Amino acid sequence: MVRPTTRLLIVALLAVTAAACEPGKAAGPDNFTGDARRGSDLVKQYQCGTCHDIPGIAGADGNVGPPLHRIGTRTYIAGYIQNSPDNMADWIEDPQRALPGNAMPKMGISQKDARDIAAFLYTLK
Ligand code: HEC
Repeated sequence: MVRPTTRLLIVALLAVTAAACEPGKAAGPDNFTGDARRGSDLVKQYQCGTCHDIPGIAGADGNVGPPLHRIGTRTYIAGYIQNSPDNMADWIEDPQRALPGNAMPKMGISQKDARDIAAFLYTLK
């Protein structure tokens, strides 16, 4: 027979193990919506291409920040932040809040615009 304390320990261990198995879970709600087509226009408008090489954006061949090829399937944003649509939108809205001290400036992008841009970036697989 399993003693109650042992049973409790097993339940606790299972809970910890289950939590550890979900590193890819998005930080925010799963109902992410964004307009990728509008996002691609915004990427041109905000001139992200002066700093980034971005596939599908004419003239976007900057080399200040990393190229955004296949950013939609990248594991981490800026090497630190779990890549999810919500985290990507947060990053674009305010990279200094997301990761203080990094080299990408806050550009005054609204939450709506940031979500559309994130939707576009997620088309880059
Ligand atoms: C003044 C230059 C500059 C501009 C303009 C700029 N970025 Fe960045 N961006 C950077 C730098 C530098 C980094 C690298 C930050 C780090 O890794 O610490 C970065 C990182 C990123 C990343 C993470 C890349 C990776 O490999 O993890 C994304 C995504 C991104 N930028 C998107 C954008 C978008 C979208 C815009 C336009 C709205 C934009 N950036 C405008 C400089 C810029």
